[in-house]
Amino acid sequence: MSKPVVLIAEELSPATVEALGPDFEIRYTDGADRSALLPAIADVDAILVRSATKVDEEAISAASNLKVIARAGVGLDNVDVKAATQAGVMVVNAPTSNITSAAELAVGLLLATARNIAPANEALKGGEWKRSKYSGVELYEKTVGIVGLGRIGALVAQRLSGFGAELIAYDPYVSTARAAQMGVRSVSLDELLAKSDFITVHLPKTPETAGLIGEQALAKVKPNVRIINAARGGIVDEHALAVALKEGRVAGAGIDVFASEPCTESPLFDFESVVVTPHLGASTEEAQERAGISVAKSVRLALAGELVPDA
Ligand code: MLT
Repeated sequence: MSKPVVLIAEELSPATVEALGPDFEIRYTDGADRSALLPAIADVDAILVRSATKVDEEAISAASNLKVIARAGVGLDNVDVKAATQAGVMVVNAPTSNITSAAELAVGLLLATARNIAPANEALKGGEWKRSKYSGVELYEKTVGIVGLGRIGALVAQRLSGFGAELIAYDPYVSTARAAQMGVRSVSLDELLAKSDFITVHLPKTPETAGLIGEQALAKVKPNVRIINAARGGIVDEHALAVALKEGRVAGAGIDVFASEPCTESPLFDFESVVVTPHLGASTEEAQERAGISVAKSVRLALAGELVPDA
């Protein structure tokens, strides 16, 4: 009897294949390349992706045998969950696999923007020893505004509390009491914008959150704020942010995610005060291993017709 086919459409930790075990035929494709993805998905039982593969309605209808879409990570914004459900395809993800890595990268970007680490590094390697040019600011006694106090936002708060910063957060889904337990004061978005020296975004991308930190919000920020986005591209509007940086309203930014990825050109790249990374939030050995093992287990259970527990 032939084995069920699992298509791995992006580079995943080797632990993924190990955790799948010997009961499947494993195939590989480059999911970001539509002309490779569509024929490759046609007869598979399951597909494993990260964020570069768009498993949209077209891909789902091209896959007549598909039973499971597995997202080795948190965000499901590259999967059309509605189309999958209508087609009777189960969607699984690994919702806690990379939250620590994402939180750590956000804190890293925040420190990098506070202390000009990226431009100072570039200048020094280019032979320039410029101490006063790259003087920065402390986090101590500054106000950090966390937009979205879910799993990742909470880990960021926990980590930043050690810096002696005042933590405020906007999250309509988290009670004031719950935020207070985390040492965070709940505020409105307007108050957060007006009071924060640093703003860090930790939201999923939805029609409500896309462009949330756009022209209007950026008109309300405290002068010299630094803005971090390691959540999803487009929640912070890149063009509006570039204008605010140009006008000197925003002092710097740390950006890991872009509205359109891969992104190799952006108005943000013109600013020395902006540190950018290519969507690395989940890119650690630990997070990738956890995500790969978690989705491999879910795929095994789903293809065996067993219940897949929430991770
Ligand atoms: C996530 O949503 O978990 C990350 O974007 C994952 C990734 O980078 O693959």
